Amino acid sequence: MISIPFVKIHLTGKEYDYISKATTLHGDGTFTQQCHALMQKLFNCQKALLTHSCTAALEMTALLLDIQPGDEIIMPSYTFVSTANAFVLRGGVPHFVDIRNDTLNLDETKIESAITAKTKAIVPVHYAGVACEMDTILQIAKKHHLYVIEDAAQGVMAKYKNQFLGTLGHFGTYSFHDTKNIISGEGGALLINHETYNELAEIIREKGTDRSHSRRQQIDQYTWQHVGSSFLPSELIAAFLLAQLEQAESITARRLKLWDMYHAAFADLETADLIRRPIIPEGCEHNGHMYYILLPHAEKRMQLLNMLKTRGISSVAHYVPLHNSPAGKKYGKFQGILAETESLSERLLRLPLFVDMDESIIFRVVDAIKAVI
Ligand SMILES: Cc1ncc(COP(=O)(O)O)c(C=O)c1O
Repeated sequence: MISIPFVKIHLTGKEYDYISKATTLHGDGTFTQQCHALMQKLFNCQKALLTHSCTAALEMTALLLDIQPGDEIIMPSYTFVSTANAFVLRGGVPHFVDIRNDTLNLDETKIESAITAKTKAIVPVHYAGVACEMDTILQIAKKHHLYVIEDAAQGVMAKYKNQFLGTLGHFGTYSFHDTKNIISGEGGALLINHETYNELAEIIREKGTDRSHSRRQQIDQYTWQHVGSSFLPSELIAAFLLAQLEQAESITARRLKLWDMYHAAFADLETADLIRRPIIPEGCEHNGHMYYILLPHAEKRMQLLNMLKTRGISSVAHYVPLHNSPAGKKYGKFQGILAETESLSERLLRLPLFVDMDESIIFRVVDAIKAVI
């Protein structure tokens, strides 16, 4: 029996050719510039900057917004640790809000009651590449003078009402980690959607210096201008990424095809009330990042995960909600009970999905799940 991995990296074929053509090892060479230009064109955004991870891009936003100790940042508890860590590093306090039952995204109806005099920003996380209800979130942010940082780690190439995720808030962050759709091993990007932040973002990314200006020969010598760090990737990473970005449309199309196959194959289990399939609201064009199913309860999920393992199929349960984690309890806050977060996180199971997956694998996974259920 051949084992089925949960993810497997996909190469477009040009990655190592481009790497061999890199003329520098450090960052911000011609491949980085090409990635910036391609992303700006592809996502229709005014400025994109490569970072060494989505985590780094999130950390940059905390510096850009000058997050101070005690500042509160509204975010879901059902997310990856980096969403919260980026702000905690600056003394910020993640204010965890519950998620929607349908998309598992930040529940926009619960945001206003979480706003206090200390609230500085809202971080919608586009889970599984399905957009949060951005119109409402942006309206709330405008009314209360808050910043919006889209954690679009999983949302590259996905859209909300025809606009690419990551381009709707003040800032958007992408991940190119090798578990994502478009990859460079480790990697990420910051999208800056207001020109006023362009210069400061470049400075923060280059150790707090105006080195980017000196590279463009706008100044003779660069100096320390602001607090910053080293957030840029090497040219080797950028070269690899360029090959991936060039194929972003075909990669997304393939993932969507596999996603649709899972979705169709599970329709009868949902009709029989045995599982729940993902829900994509109108106006959201997702990117096939993830296929998951929701089981009726936690024990059923663990039972299925273990049974799939015995059949050589890797599936994944995530996330442990941040508000229940040791660090979340220490650094974050929340009100009442995050009922949807607790229930959905215990019942979700992610299934194998990768570009080079033979379609017969989908049927093997579906058949195994049907047999168990
Ligand atoms: C929602 C979310 N935010 C942030 C990250 C961090 O991304 P990276 O590994 O590129 O730092 C991830 C990675 O899985 C994620 O899923």
